[in-house]
Amino acid sequence: MEVMQAAAAAEAGGADVIHLEVGQPSTAAPDGVLAAAQRALVEDRLGYGDPHGEWALRERIARWYDERHGHAVAPDNVIVTTGASGSCVLAFLACFDPGDRVGVIEPGYPCYRNDLTTFGIEVVGIPVGLEQGFRPTVADLEAAGPLDGLVLASPSNPTGTVLGEAELTEVLGWCRANGTRAIVDEIYHGITYDEPAPTALSVDPDVIVFNSFSKYFSMTGWRLGWIIAPDELIGPLGRLGANLTISAPTLSQLAGVAAFDCVDEADRNVARYRDNRAVLLEGLPAAGIDRLAPADGAFYLYAAIDHLADSSVELARRWLDELAIACTPGVDFDPVQGERFIRFSYAGTTDEMRRACDRLATWNA
Ligand SMILES: Cc1ncc(COP(=O)(O)O)c(C=O)c1O
Repeated sequence: MEVMQAAAAAEAGGADVIHLEVGQPSTAAPDGVLAAAQRALVEDRLGYGDPHGEWALRERIARWYDERHGHAVAPDNVIVTTGASGSCVLAFLACFDPGDRVGVIEPGYPCYRNDLTTFGIEVVGIPVGLEQGFRPTVADLEAAGPLDGLVLASPSNPTGTVLGEAELTEVLGWCRANGTRAIVDEIYHGITYDEPAPTALSVDPDVIVFNSFSKYFSMTGWRLGWIIAPDELIGPLGRLGANLTISAPTLSQLAGVAAFDCVDEADRNVARYRDNRAVLLEGLPAAGIDRLAPADGAFYLYAAIDHLADSSVELARRWLDELAIACTPGVDFDPVQGERFIRFSYAGTTDEMRRACDRLATWNA
């Protein structure tokens, strides 16, 4: 957020800033969603909704798991939320008590840590490194001591790392054997470049997964997401949702049903991310930045920069001042090793990626 503010100030001063810090698609919602929203504005009163979500949307989300993963999900096990952010709040509150120990992967999305801390839950950082492709192993989990819960993401923000079926089986098997409640963030599903990311549900149907319309469907501002949870958690999740937000936005829910039939448009965005990724995977090493996370999915490249600077915060500041390139210091994602890494987002245009690489190639530490 500080980088974005500094970038906005630089732009106000006339700088031609290339935005590699943004964590959201540069495109609008799919046309079919916009049309459905316009219809709903005319035809629907748009009152409060069911705290569990509109039934038609819960059914459509359940069907999506069958279409994408061949995995049966009952609509009753779907809870509609105010984005993955809302899913985190509901899932963490429903699953954990103050004082519980919950593991988060470092580097990882910072809100897991911040939400858990806000709820009085003890956060246990589980460091994973570049040399292991930022994939957690059972040895990493064992080293963390007893865990009441574990938060995973696949594909991950900031590393793009996708956990394959074998890796999910290993980690989720360990969780089951050790009584550790696993919650898996699948918000970047649909945005992968090699193999599709398997859902954790196909490995363990009792795991909690959440997802969102924000990334693949390019709908960040619609504040819409979902949780798939086992039967015993549906009541608590619904009651928490009813008390905290009453319901997810009704307009977004009515429109969101159409998103699942807009796959061609969503996949066109993924094709652009793929081009952008290829530009960066060639251009960053050419600029001397060649120790990169796997980037199997999402739209981020997480790069080691400790040969260029002692501090990623300082390097991000210099690149903004000297190259008009905005990117995110690793300290946002990893309080321990983050000063050694920078995250580049490639959600923008392919031209921006080319120009960013040109600028970086001219830069001299
Ligand atoms: C890994 C991850 N999870 C959750 C979120 C929250 O997304 P939203 O609340 O827009 O669905 C983000 C947003 O960037 C994210 O990167």
